[in-house]
Amino acid sequence: MSRVESLIARMTLTEKLGQLTMTACGMAVTGPTIAGDSTAAVKSGAIGNLLNLVGPNNVHAMQRLAVKESRLGIPLLIGYDVIHGHRILFPIPLAETACFDPTLWEVSAREAAKEAAADGLAMTFAPMLDVARDPRWGRSAEGPGEDPLVGARIAEAKVRGFQGADLRQADALAACAKHYCAYGCVTAGRDYAPVDISERTLHEVHMVPFAAAVAAGAAAIMPSFTDLNGIPMTANQALLHDWLRGRLGFEGVIISDYNAIAELIRHGIAGDLPEAAALALKAGVDIDMMADAYRYGLPAALERGAVTIADIDQAVRRVLTLKERLGLFEDPFARGRTPESAAALRDRRHLARVIATRSIVMLKNQDDTLPLKSTVRRVALVGPLSDDSSEMRGVWWGAAPPEGHVTVLAGLREALPGAQILHAPGVAIDSADFSGISQGLDHCSAVDAIILCLGEAAIMSGEASSRSYLGLPGSQRRLAEAVFEQARGSATPVIVILFSGRPLVVPWLVEQADAVLAAWFPGSEAGNAIADLITGRASPSGRTPVTWPRAAGQVPIFFSERPSGRPFNATDRFTSKYLDVANEPLFPFGFGLNFGRFEFSNLRLSAASLGIDDAVTVQVDLLNSGAREAQETVFLFTHDKVASVSRPKLELKGFAQITLGPGNKGTVSLSLRASELRFLGMDLAAVFEPGEVDILVGPCADRTQLLVASIHLVAN
Ligand code: GLC
Repeated sequence: MSRVESLIARMTLTEKLGQLTMTACGMAVTGPTIAGDSTAAVKSGAIGNLLNLVGPNNVHAMQRLAVKESRLGIPLLIGYDVIHGHRILFPIPLAETACFDPTLWEVSAREAAKEAAADGLAMTFAPMLDVARDPRWGRSAEGPGEDPLVGARIAEAKVRGFQGADLRQADALAACAKHYCAYGCVTAGRDYAPVDISERTLHEVHMVPFAAAVAAGAAAIMPSFTDLNGIPMTANQALLHDWLRGRLGFEGVIISDYNAIAELIRHGIAGDLPEAAALALKAGVDIDMMADAYRYGLPAALERGAVTIADIDQAVRRVLTLKERLGLFEDPFARGRTPESAAALRDRRHLARVIATRSIVMLKNQDDTLPLKSTVRRVALVGPLSDDSSEMRGVWWGAAPPEGHVTVLAGLREALPGAQILHAPGVAIDSADFSGISQGLDHCSAVDAIILCLGEAAIMSGEASSRSYLGLPGSQRRLAEAVFEQARGSATPVIVILFSGRPLVVPWLVEQADAVLAAWFPGSEAGNAIADLITGRASPSGRTPVTWPRAAGQVPIFFSERPSGRPFNATDRFTSKYLDVANEPLFPFGFGLNFGRFEFSNLRLSAASLGIDDAVTVQVDLLNSGAREAQETVFLFTHDKVASVSRPKLELKGFAQITLGPGNKGTVSLSLRASELRFLGMDLAAVFEPGEVDILVGPCADRTQLLVASIHLVAN
């Protein structure tokens, strides 16, 4: 008999329910309920999993209680939100997506896993795969942006990175893909609000990254807090048991979100804890995070006949199997035994700097303001985000302390040792007090350049951080307008560094600044990465993974909308438009400037037609007519112009990057399989329909910048 079956045969009900329970320790607060001391429950086997505990000594102390003092010695599974690094932080996930480089996405997860495993952890509650098209929702910061294909590539890279080649390795973390599903569609962008979307959008957009995560071997999945069309995901038998396990073949562990099982009562589908516990277990949720619904609700649910011991055993089986796959039975102390070397940490910080540099998106660079001329001697550095280490972490900062992250001031001092840097915050991030503006303005007179560091606080995005107003908080606009006014007419360029967990609605700022860098939250090497770009030690290459609205009233705004029967036409009143703002975004998906000048030409296809089993190579030539080497990202879109179902104006099918020196030419090749042109037909089953499909290639989701060719799909 296997170890797992032998244990199940010997376990008491309390011990079984303990394996289905995950309780928070106090080293991070990530939810509304706080547990007490879990020591006794771990020793008795009444708690079998923990979260928010870090540090080899702390983890090993609790592991010893479970392994050496409990009756059956089953090791603990200990998880943490290792979202974009653990102690050395990479850019927030939305920022890292802007690299459009799956290799970097994987490498940063691998490095985060090594650091977290060295801290004793065996699971991360990541990757977060919620496609988001509503920047009012603060959790956009944690995810892959607006496109399902990008979400799928992120899923694959992160699962591979976190889990490594073998979960048994001491530096492997079990990945927990979250939040399944469509959490990014909360009503009005308000976190935790109801989700009401079509089956089509659910399957065409929001399920795609999770299917990729399952195919990549994600060890766990976390359902979202939210309902989906009236059925809370935590009790959604159709999407958990039938779809995830039945259709996608997911055999891993499903972990509820924090207290989510108990919240089924507030959702109004359970009358009490036993009923909530039964609904979740029957739906397929194996581990109850922080509701104690399984511990205290399932015994009564058993008595009521709402669940069976077999239901419980099935969940226990999956949890014990995961612990076995992680090697926890063989060596529960492997993770946390070997400290990392100084060289490993040094290399990781260098990687964090590279990724931060690659994630920053240059939104404007009028008259080649950047890179700063080497003759720069006096620089004004003004704004509340110019020297704040803690804020550079962004949301979900893991186990990273507030200090130790390179600020813009520190980065510039290191990059411009001969320059005088006059620094003043001017205003706080979110305050009505603007009394400091005058000092900021004083610094901005008689300098060679002005750098404004503006944006959101780290806690203004992420969980429970929706915003209805998407501009700069507090008195920051007042500060910026005063600086623009003072600099107007002078030769002094004003460079704005924007820090945010979402696209900000700042058309007035983009209009007046000479250069704008969207830095998002760049992590531990923020200041060095920003200085690298400002001084030209590196060339900006980031591309925005989300559309930037021109006005909050445009939200939700995204490039892959369907065409409408009355698409906008300036000469026809009866077409889709606003009376008070253009339909176009401030910046389209994929937008990002660099220090080169790329010209696309000669789009060509390796075939004129495709059967379902065929593939086509799409090639385009690029010329960098600029004066500096730069990296360009090339996007491949399609548009199926006539189909049985109205298809989006643009669908992303691939992306690639090329680096060219000044005056150099190159060719980018992308492969497109006919099977990738299938879509969900009238009955939501995948169909491949003959007909003409446009293939569009270019630098971003702006049709006016795309080269177009057509291909014929033919029935076999
Ligand atoms: C939080 C979040 C989830 C996180 C979990 C554990 O409420 O919704 O993303 O992984 O609780 O901290």
